[in-house]
Amino acid sequence: MNQKLYMVSLGPGDAELLTYKALEAFRKCDAICVPTKSPDNSFSKSISHKIVSDALKLLGIERELVAVYSPMRFNHDDWEHEADIILDTLQKHKCVAFVTIGDAGIYSSIYYLLDIIKEKAAHIHKSCEVIPGVTSFSAASAEVQKALCLGDEELLIKPINPRSEVKTTEILMRPKIGMNTEILGEGDFYTFENMYLKDAKITPSKIAKVKKYMTLFINFAKRKSL
Ligand SMILES: C[S@@+](CC[C@H](N)C(=O)[O-])C[C@H]1O[C@@H](n2cnc3c(N)ncnc32)[C@H](O)[C@@H]1O
Repeated sequence: MNQKLYMVSLGPGDAELLTYKALEAFRKCDAICVPTKSPDNSFSKSISHKIVSDALKLLGIERELVAVYSPMRFNHDDWEHEADIILDTLQKHKCVAFVTIGDAGIYSSIYYLLDIIKEKAAHIHKSCEVIPGVTSFSAASAEVQKALCLGDEELLIKPINPRSEVKTTEILMRPKIGMNTEILGEGDFYTFENMYLKDAKITPSKIAKVKKYMTLFINFAKRKSL
């Protein structure tokens, strides 16, 4: 059976801020795994459930919703339990979505879950597609019509209550064509050129010389594997 797992970013709360790809994932999937902080698995306090329900209403479709108890305790056993619910759902259905608020790349549990899924079911991990979304702070900026960065400003995203040493991911944008990238330093770099456009290329390192203006670099925080 060809199985498929979508990790869907829900955006900040308004179903109209879901991407077309997110809505298509809901259309294609048989069941949607929805996090809830309630130990009784009810969705009464689940923001994700509200967004998913609104999105399904917009689409005019119904899907099986599977509660995923997510107490947000930063505990490996909790993530393992959540990953098991997703894998169990994939035993019953061919195509399953798991949802996360805002964008999956910002303080979401999905990459903890994907690490566990990779260990337990490599073929499911291979089938997985992560769908990006609107972050809470992009939406906040639009709500008040104030730019997050202009001109030569930088943008800093900080955890208010860090549990351990704070590590940094750097996003480097607006390079000059022809520039030598030595000045960007060393680290866990990826280079993204012309994403989603003609000649799109993702290089899992820092390219030596910039060829296109539509190039961005990410120097990912150094993380221990789980
Ligand atoms: C676990 S993080 C998830 C961040 C999310 N992945 C994103 O892309 O924005 C949860 C934090 O995001 C912020 N957040 C998310 N949605 C929000 C909303 N609708 N309104 C205000 N803050 C929000 C709050 O700071 C909240 O404590």
